[in-house]
Amino acid sequence: MNVLVYGSGAREHIIAKKISQSKFLSRLFLANPNEGFKDLGEMVKFCDFYDLAKKCNEYKIDLAIIGPEEPLSNGIVDILNSYGISTIGANKHFSTLESSKIFAKKFMKKYNIPTSHFEIINSKEDIDTKFVEFIKKYNQTKIVLKADGLCKGKGVFICDDVEVAKEKLKTLLNGEFGEASKKVLVEQYQEGDEISLISLFDGKTLLPFLYSQDYKRLYENNLGPNTGGMGAYCPVIVEDKYKNQIDEYLKKLQEALISEKADFIGFIYSGLILTYNGIKVLEYNMRLGDPETQALLTSLKTDFLKILIYAKNKNLDKIKLKWNDKKSYCLVVSSKGYPQQPIIGDEILNLKELKQKYKNVDVYFANVKKKEDKLLSNGGRVLSLCSFNKNDIYKFVNELIFKNKYYRKDLFKVEA
Ligand code: GLY
Repeated sequence: MNVLVYGSGAREHIIAKKISQSKFLSRLFLANPNEGFKDLGEMVKFCDFYDLAKKCNEYKIDLAIIGPEEPLSNGIVDILNSYGISTIGANKHFSTLESSKIFAKKFMKKYNIPTSHFEIINSKEDIDTKFVEFIKKYNQTKIVLKADGLCKGKGVFICDDVEVAKEKLKTLLNGEFGEASKKVLVEQYQEGDEISLISLFDGKTLLPFLYSQDYKRLYENNLGPNTGGMGAYCPVIVEDKYKNQIDEYLKKLQEALISEKADFIGFIYSGLILTYNGIKVLEYNMRLGDPETQALLTSLKTDFLKILIYAKNKNLDKIKLKWNDKKSYCLVVSSKGYPQQPIIGDEILNLKELKQKYKNVDVYFANVKKKEDKLLSNGGRVLSLCSFNKNDIYKFVNELIFKNKYYRKDLFKVEA
């Protein structure tokens, strides 16, 4: 089978690596890879999604796997499908479950999916009316604000005070994130452990992967701004009472998708919080998480492409996934200044030696570029280090030499 992997992050690097190891693969093609993993496959150059669809037909690509949210919400799957190309990824309509927090909440409400109460703020006039009434009604201590649209993981704010929240609402509605924050969701704050539940949907069956967890905050002790994720591990140990609720929720989600005639084949990531009142869904991402995918695919023993072939053939009810018994870990190494203004262009000096020294640690590239024979950092999250041995990950990263290296030193100590 010929496969295309679309995307440039560490998530797509590990996807491409796993696919490259599959006995079902004939040729691997890559769309927009970064320079750290482009040699894993044949590069497909294209100018837009229509051009990409034509190239997929030219190269006889049997399956295209779309990693990031932007192309999904811009309709890449609809276009590829209209050219007869099978895809793993949500179509434009269902990717709205990620690209509009309001759409997602309305979907959850319609299908009685457990989630916290919310209100939609569309204008500055709403601040003194709908917002104030919402705060009164739910006696909020902390207030959660979410920009409606895609903000690369940076559009969620937890405010300790009503006045601070009002000011933040004004900034958001004024277009802090452009169109993405012209509408804002106000939500009840929930206390509890968060887990990521990534499932694969084939139009009939929702197949869950292991429970995983990422660390969203930039600084130690879960402080600082939200990021795309500074690390992840799996599996997360979850109490039986929550497991039952999660199973019930998955059934509800599967039925909801079928009722809505969801005919895409792709991943759905449910961000869950385990509260004393039971589980609640915080958000949906219509794709594999980054960096959760790096931990999950490190642990996965079943041939990843085989799973995707089962999904393509709508046979996910007939496959059982095998996972490594050990916990797997992923640490994100970023550049100082991430997520606001990462410093880029530092040479990463001693990767080869460290890979030799720590053979049990795998390196996946997110934002790097090559200049002659040098490897340079080229963005916020630079690389992911994955292993079953968390101590070796930390030894590796301590010894790694690049000038503006930043990583969290406190991960994987307390695991739920
Ligand atoms: N780790 C969260 C995300 O992929 O958006």
